[in-house]
Amino acid sequence: SSDPLVIFTPSGKRGHFAVGTPILTAARQLGVDLDSVCGGRGICSKCQITPGFGEFPKHKVTVRDGALSEWNKVEQRYQDKRGLKEGRRLGCQATVQGDVVIDVPPESQVHKQVVRKRAEARDIVLNPSTRLFYVEVAEPDMHDPSGDLERLQNALRDQWALENVTADLHIFQQMQPILRKGAWKVTVAVNLGDAENPARIMHIWPGYYDGTVYGLAVDLGSTTIAAHLCDLQTGEVVASSGVMNPQIRFGEDLMSRVSYSMMNASGADEMTRAVREGMCALFEQIAEEGGIDRGLIVDAVFVCNPVMHHLFLGIDPFELGQAPFALATSNALRLRAVDLDLNIHPSARVYLLPCIAGHVGADAAAVALSEAPDKSEDLVLVVDVGTNAEILLGNKEKVLACSSPTGPAFEGAQISSGQRAAPGAIERVEIDPATKVARFKVIGSDLWSDEDGFDDAIATTGVTGICGSGIIEMVAEMRMQGIVDAPGLIGTAEQTGSANVFADGRTNSYLVYDGTAAGGPRITVTNRDIREIQMAKAALYSGARLLMDKFGVDKVDRVVLAGAFGAHISTKHAMVLGMIPDAPLDKVTSAGNAAGTGARIALLNTAARGEIEQTVRQIHKIETAIEPRFQEHFVNASAIPNAVEPFPILNS
Ligand code: FES
Repeated sequence: SSDPLVIFTPSGKRGHFAVGTPILTAARQLGVDLDSVCGGRGICSKCQITPGFGEFPKHKVTVRDGALSEWNKVEQRYQDKRGLKEGRRLGCQATVQGDVVIDVPPESQVHKQVVRKRAEARDIVLNPSTRLFYVEVAEPDMHDPSGDLERLQNALRDQWALENVTADLHIFQQMQPILRKGAWKVTVAVNLGDAENPARIMHIWPGYYDGTVYGLAVDLGSTTIAAHLCDLQTGEVVASSGVMNPQIRFGEDLMSRVSYSMMNASGADEMTRAVREGMCALFEQIAEEGGIDRGLIVDAVFVCNPVMHHLFLGIDPFELGQAPFALATSNALRLRAVDLDLNIHPSARVYLLPCIAGHVGADAAAVALSEAPDKSEDLVLVVDVGTNAEILLGNKEKVLACSSPTGPAFEGAQISSGQRAAPGAIERVEIDPATKVARFKVIGSDLWSDEDGFDDAIATTGVTGICGSGIIEMVAEMRMQGIVDAPGLIGTAEQTGSANVFADGRTNSYLVYDGTAAGGPRITVTNRDIREIQMAKAALYSGARLLMDKFGVDKVDRVVLAGAFGAHISTKHAMVLGMIPDAPLDKVTSAGNAAGTGARIALLNTAARGEIEQTVRQIHKIETAIEPRFQEHFVNASAIPNAVEPFPILNS
């Protein structure tokens, strides 16, 4: 062809276009991802591109001056009023004049890459539910009567190829003055729809709207509700915030909440109301932190365990409290925020990830979405540690899932000096092999307890207790220094050679810290504490081990620890304790709040929703309660690290 060649980077897409073709038009014809909100009118500047000049040996092309048109009036006006970055042009105004190489910078791509935290986690491109479209609407004509909405729909169809866009009542109520105020030019936020819903007008602004719309990724936990507020145009997290789940007043753990609903006729309703109120308080708080209008939040994704799932939706969790643990529905749900009494945009949509099984919830599905075991070449064990451990084991071939009741010991509950992770809590521990005395670090200070300045550094927090990760290190260190034996008994002072061990009733306890002289606490580890940790870690390990049996393997290639707790835990100590299967330490990583990341992925990329629904259907669910091998593994795993399994890598 004698027409000039246009090459786009980074995509590498290329084609010949007639002289005078706008770059935006060329991009669209080639399927190059170049953004536009105003539809090529020189208003939004979302279409910015960077032309390259000179030799491009890689592309076998030389770009000469004049390969792009001179600045026209529209582009010049934009430049004068708002200014473009050096070297940038408006893709909708600049036209092809000769062979040219055009770079599309990330901020001009609709499907830009977002959510990339760690090398092994998946990449995600932005593909939001709701986008902004600027349109020019035909004015009403007495000779050809039609409604304002119909003309707006026609404009969306003709200018953006959006077919059959619907709208809720509140749009009809507001639309007419907005259309007139904007002189028939408006910006429309359109939810593009999904398998179950048509595209829908969410919001209208007069003229060109220079702002954005937002979405929420919510991790609804039994203890805390945490949310990320995200800009749906950039994918950025604008604010992150959390509140305590107000349902705590009905019971600390899930089963006590299920029993509350069994014992009280209106119990489930009360808890539904409480969690929704908590959610609204959180949304108010996060909007304030982000400095945005709550009414601009048009989409929300929720992940939660099955009991929270039911209580949030207003479904009595009764059936989840007893075998066979039937969920009301395990499917992903696409709902309206108003039906859940949420204080966000009146047309806002809500998406709940699918549940995997009666004990393995949408939170585990979110972990699967974020860690993608189903795409892994090597065999990966993903453990989300909480009061219930949710466990996934798999690779590209297949993925298995189960949950195991670890109880609250890993959160510091039911431990004599245990507490939640907060300033003052012991989180790191080392026991001196010679003296058998513990040195430690507390949350809120970088100094170890035997370092100069420690007392000053902790003057405000004090030493208040031991948190979950601290107790794991403590017990593992006690085992390594022979203070505790493999079955889990604390020896006497003579047996262990530790002056910190003292007789405590019929068993022995270990003194960690005595702050009584200064009016502080005396922090000890009792044999009952050891027992609690043994039960919790045995539950976790035997769940993982059961999945390995089912998979037909006796080792895994790598381990991912998810959850807030997983982020703080020392992998070495976890393995000394026999919490997780034997694996090279450098193959044990922490994914942080993977469920929250999964929620964010589903919020920012609507295609990922269909993907995880598909994956969840293919996950094999294992019910630990009915597996005889589980009990056997549990008994063996109660020993530290294990009564029968050798942990060769750990011991090498
Ligand atoms: Fe809006 Fe170019 S597409 S300025």
